[in-house]
Amino acid sequence: MVGPGAGSGEPSVMIHLLWLVPLLLVALYAALRVYNRGYRRIDVSPAAYPWPKGIDDGELDGIVDELMGRMSLADRVHQLSGDGGELLLLRLGMHIYVMERFPHMYAGHDPDHGIPPISFGDGPRGIVVGEASAFPVAIARGASWDRELEGRVGDAIAVEARALGINYFGGLCINLLRHPGWGRAQESYGEDPWHLGEMGVALLTAVQRHNVMVCAKHFALNSIENSRFFVDVQLDDRTLHEVYLPHFRRCVDAGLASVMSAYNKVRGQWCGHSELLLERILRGQWGFEGFVSCDWVWGLHGTVDPAVAGMDVEMPRTRHYGKRLLRAVRDGRLDPTVIERNARRVVRTKLRFVTREDPESYPVERVECDEHRALAREAAEASMVLLRNEGPLLPLDPAKLRRLAVIGELARERNLGDRGSSMVSPRRVVTILDGIRDRLGDGVEVVFEDGRDADAVRRVAGESDAVLAVAGLRAGDEGENLSSRRKPGKPARVSRGGDRTDLALRSSEVATILAAAGANPRTVVALVGGSAITMEAWRELVPAIVMAWYPGMEGGAALARLLFGDVSPSGKLPFTIPADPARLPPFDPWAERAEYGYYHGYTLVDREGSEPAYRFGFGLSYTTFELGPPALSAEVIPTDGDLQITVPVTNTGERAGAEVIQVYVSFPDVGVERPEKLLRAFGKVHLEPGETGEATLGILAKDLARYEPEGERWVVDPGEYTLSVGTSSAEEALVRLPIQIG
Ligand code: BGC
Repeated sequence: MVGPGAGSGEPSVMIHLLWLVPLLLVALYAALRVYNRGYRRIDVSPAAYPWPKGIDDGELDGIVDELMGRMSLADRVHQLSGDGGELLLLRLGMHIYVMERFPHMYAGHDPDHGIPPISFGDGPRGIVVGEASAFPVAIARGASWDRELEGRVGDAIAVEARALGINYFGGLCINLLRHPGWGRAQESYGEDPWHLGEMGVALLTAVQRHNVMVCAKHFALNSIENSRFFVDVQLDDRTLHEVYLPHFRRCVDAGLASVMSAYNKVRGQWCGHSELLLERILRGQWGFEGFVSCDWVWGLHGTVDPAVAGMDVEMPRTRHYGKRLLRAVRDGRLDPTVIERNARRVVRTKLRFVTREDPESYPVERVECDEHRALAREAAEASMVLLRNEGPLLPLDPAKLRRLAVIGELARERNLGDRGSSMVSPRRVVTILDGIRDRLGDGVEVVFEDGRDADAVRRVAGESDAVLAVAGLRAGDEGENLSSRRKPGKPARVSRGGDRTDLALRSSEVATILAAAGANPRTVVALVGGSAITMEAWRELVPAIVMAWYPGMEGGAALARLLFGDVSPSGKLPFTIPADPARLPPFDPWAERAEYGYYHGYTLVDREGSEPAYRFGFGLSYTTFELGPPALSAEVIPTDGDLQITVPVTNTGERAGAEVIQVYVSFPDVGVERPEKLLRAFGKVHLEPGETGEATLGILAKDLARYEPEGERWVVDPGEYTLSVGTSSAEEALVRLPIQIG
């Protein structure tokens, strides 16, 4: 179309107006900043609420009864509804995409009744509000196999949460890593339900100590990302109870405050509407007393059904609850006792946390303090996994280096992982290149090469005494599916992140690694990412490989300390790295319907007798360990008894280090199929050179049970079991001991 004045060569009015666009954007940005600053911050500390502290459950129930009696139907509905407001999506969008900082989000604040709000802060790599410490991603911490360390990370996260006004932590993601292509693998701890439960309990216990309610997510079977808004997961009862739910139950048993339902469907029903998951299993079978909130914005698809099925809080704003719940009661479609039941669970849980004294104080100076930076580095060091070390090439001795080549763009990126809901924004990040330079100082020349030009890579590598090639993934490659598409059908692209169907590195990175290793036999590859990366094209051609994960705000410093031998690697893989991805369970990121089977990860490897690249539980050290014969507290254990296993461990090498002792259990043949072995205990032992210590590991006979669908019960079969004790899930790393149960 020709605009006015086109013939005379004058620009159209539209073109005149174009200069307004940037102005409008700047104005919008400024308005949101002001709006956000004015957004009221609510005090969530127990001291701000009038309730007595240190009360027992009976007294708590008394207070809740009295309070509920004073609350109107509207007050109760208010407890069930997020306060996100109409501008929510705009606000969230601006925060996430423009400011890269997550805002405060509240639900159910009722000052008249002395009820605090839920003040939500996501995780798991730190607290996702404003600026805060970024720890290594959860999968990295899973690789530390160190509950005590995870507890300290939990303490630090909770301290920062409280300092930032958060009392509800949405950062306990314990979905099972069924297939390493899952985009949010980095947010969870790994592939094994036992290990997931143990690490989850370590985090939740620490966080809740600071009166921050922990929300475990995403309940349940949320192990595919792209299709999370519509996929319908099918599975049998034993797979559900034995593989996909035990870790949630373990957290419930440890006093978990809350659960977030998943977006997906299970057996044809939305998780947020699932009476089976929320009422029958979570509350009925497990005795959960906390409250359930839904995954955000799109977790609910109706009003009456989810309320009846046991969904308590709609987050983060009201679409289906709020007025609609009131209307449903008025129209006689919803029994008001359902509202009373759900609201009571929310009020009781919040009061449970504000009727306790704070164990310490939470000034804002504690956010990203030196202590937390040191802890972030320690966690990164403890989580990195040494996969290969021929020679051994590592550790490198800085005294013998004149020139080190660092190759790969990722070495100088601020690469903390996904940039969706788990994005934490620290003020300062030590990149890998920074970490190496700081550690080596002026004595060693560090030459950086981005890796785009193979000739330059060969030249720089050839002219150096050693090479560090950094390769792997970033937020664009894996992560949360933030696309607005919530219907079946593959869109042109996921906005960023999502699942991976190709688990290998980009071919350009493989070429860089091969060029570097071809030019210099002293080449170390550091992999960055949040899940398994396959490496068949090159792993035998480089002498040393370290899985560095997304290592957090001090990750570069940690990797440098590890490469130069200030600390020995002690991480162990929390998942299997396949040699051939065809041996993995089927994985269709755009599936409308997915079948989850009984086997995945190491149980599938054991069943098929396949040879993965690296096994679950595997990781090398710079030192060596010798395990003495395990001693058992008893050889015959009743079906409700327990067993202590004591394993002497000696550090037989020259350096301090830590070893993870793992105990797997194999089951008697009672004519019911079971995996060949299952992890049931682990412990990490830190030892100086020459020192002998002990790993003391406990197993409860009840944790060896299988689920019997017919009776909806757990059965411990009497018979001869085999314990396999060792340092990885590989057969050759395990010694076997029989025990008798029953
Ligand atoms: C994610 C949740 C997250 C929530 C709030 C959702 O899209 O699936 O894990 O807690 O957003 O950020």
